[in-house]
Amino acid sequence: PSTFFRQLTLSECDERPPRRRLIKISVIGAGNVGMAIAQTILTQDLADEIVLVDAVADKVRGEMLDLQHAAAFLPRVNIVSGTDIASLTRSSDLVIVTAGARQIPGETRLNLLQRNVSLFRRIVPAAAEASPESLLLIVSNPVDVLTYVAWKLSGFPASRVIGSGTNLDSSRFRFLLAEHLEVSAQDVQAYMVGEHGDSSVALWSSISVAGMPVLAHLQRNHRSSAAAAKAFDAAALEGIRRAVVGSAYEVIKLKGYTSWAIGYSVASIAWSLLRDQRRIHPVSVLAKGLVRGVPADRELFLSLPARLGRAGVIGVAAELELTEEEEKRLRVSADTLWGYCHALGL
Ligand code: NAI
Ligand code: LAC
Repeated sequence: PSTFFRQLTLSECDERPPRRRLIKISVIGAGNVGMAIAQTILTQDLADEIVLVDAVADKVRGEMLDLQHAAAFLPRVNIVSGTDIASLTRSSDLVIVTAGARQIPGETRLNLLQRNVSLFRRIVPAAAEASPESLLLIVSNPVDVLTYVAWKLSGFPASRVIGSGTNLDSSRFRFLLAEHLEVSAQDVQAYMVGEHGDSSVALWSSISVAGMPVLAHLQRNHRSSAAAAKAFDAAALEGIRRAVVGSAYEVIKLKGYTSWAIGYSVASIAWSLLRDQRRIHPVSVLAKGLVRGVPADRELFLSLPARLGRAGVIGVAAELELTEEEEKRLRVSADTLWGYCHALGL
């Protein structure tokens, strides 16, 4: 191949090493979710190398080849695959873990815990040993408890162990609010916090459109227009919260799994981390002592708005303005997760 191009002399083409550090991302678990994440990261030109690891050798090689065949349409990225975490993922900047059992229709995320903990006992130590300076981004469910497990098994500082958490739930929340308010979801700020799942908490007070706090605005004006009254209707907002919590069950019942939204959600977190964006994401972090209802001696992970950069979690919005109802719901979420984390005895 080198004879195909006239070799430039050194004076014309000095092979200086790339100015920036090359970015290596490893995805452990090349299933629906892992491949949606990898494909989205590829199209966003974030990584110089993407490693796909899975327990099924043929499947992960097929996924690699299928992505490589898109090379003419994508930025140049080195894509490798295989089954051995230690050799393939070595010196990764970011390790994303999606390996594990997924829900069958109607099954809760927490029901996957035991199967996926035993998987993590093999995967996490191997990944941590191969990339001791990496960031760990956990996606497998139940993601909050498995992020706690990954923190314990990796020995990493909590700032470098993050769960995708309610970043996805908050996107679903913003979508449904945007539809209800007839605006773009990109102009709606709204957070779900707590457990990624059945006890997630909608922060109504966090909802703003183009910087305007929606509920306060509607409370001031809702008598003045039927549209505002409709938008303010508490039953409609509770319906939206329930629809967010039920989203995954609905999609899993229809197509058997969820993948595209989580793919974009995790790629956005990866971008904020590796490009040091300092953006705020609602992701699963070590919450002990950070919010009322989670005592300082309770080691558990749940989602709070967190500032993300190249070092991982570089700040958490702990002083949340919560209504009494939101505080009660967040305490229920924290108690649920504490029960599972504590029972593991890690
Ligand atoms: P899937 O079954 O399509 O993929 C799981 C992959 O893990 C399979 O390819 C399997 O071969 C692989 N795997 C199993 N053991 C492994 C090991 N020891 N090493 C490497 N790979 C291994 O499932 P899917 O749909 O991709 O879901 C994966 C996980 O992600 C599930 O736990 C699911 O609940 C979770 N999930 C989490 C979301 C979130 O918001 N946190 C959203 C969607 C899914
Ligand atoms: C979700 C589940 C699968 O898509 O965690 O939210």
